[in-house]
Amino acid sequence: MKIRKAVIPAAGLGTRMLPATKTIPKEMLPLLDKPVIQYIIEEAAAAGIEDILLVTNRSKSAMDDYFDYFPELEQRLERSGKADQAEEIRRAADLANIFYVRQKETKGLGHAIYRAKRFIGNEPFAVLLGDDVMFSDTPVIKQLMDVSEERGGATALGVQAVSDAALASYSSLKVAETDKSGVFKVEDLIEKPTAKQKFSNYAILGRYVLTGGIFNALENIQPGYGGEIQLTDGIRSQLASEAMYAVDFEGKRYDTGNQRGFLEATVEFALRDSELGAGFREYLQGILKA
Ligand code: G1P
Repeated sequence: MKIRKAVIPAAGLGTRMLPATKTIPKEMLPLLDKPVIQYIIEEAAAAGIEDILLVTNRSKSAMDDYFDYFPELEQRLERSGKADQAEEIRRAADLANIFYVRQKETKGLGHAIYRAKRFIGNEPFAVLLGDDVMFSDTPVIKQLMDVSEERGGATALGVQAVSDAALASYSSLKVAETDKSGVFKVEDLIEKPTAKQKFSNYAILGRYVLTGGIFNALENIQPGYGGEIQLTDGIRSQLASEAMYAVDFEGKRYDTGNQRGFLEATVEFALRDSELGAGFREYLQGILKA
């Protein structure tokens, strides 16, 4: 079954990036010259997704404006010989058909995803968390979509092994090998495990393919960790009725929702940049030697 739609939850308050995020959505903070959210939307578009629902809140209207045309600015750039820049800003608005819905209350990731029920209906769909920026050869969400599509549209969770210390901030999966390397059958999962509760060091890292059944599941679970409706708990409740898979994806994930992760992403994206990279590497080497 072909996956055509994606949901990007982007309604978090960004408290780990205050005070900047008091008035700027954390998804609009720039990594080099593009806002974080554009990298996420480019990943979905590169995977062939055309329709994207952004789950936002009342302080995020800068995102709707960003993915709109801005004719006065484009014309001014063109008139002053900057057609490349004009094209670049127009391209951002043409990456996908973007739809918006608001999460009116902050009640957790599962609650945010539930806002997509009417947009999705009953088909498998992609989820890309708005903080998690990926660097990979094949778009990470495409790696999951391929596994899901090979298995009749099953749930596919993007995972990597993380340290014991990091696990408590994420989730932990109990997995069994399949005939394909890097693809596991999910046997159980838990949100924000304590050291005693962990199943393995595989954690979900910001990418999912979910089935339409998730909405019914989310309706029927109780609030979990932090008193919030947790997506992980909803997925867990589907285990009894659906086979699901974990994909140990190729690529590096950056958590741009905190200062350290944001800094790592900024430095590494700058080092890889075709124009900035070489000079910036020399600069870093210089200051590190001093
Ligand atoms: C969310 C998910 C968690 C996942 C993590 C990283 O947690 O609930 O299962 O491991 O993202 O993608 P949050 O970062 O919102 O606390």
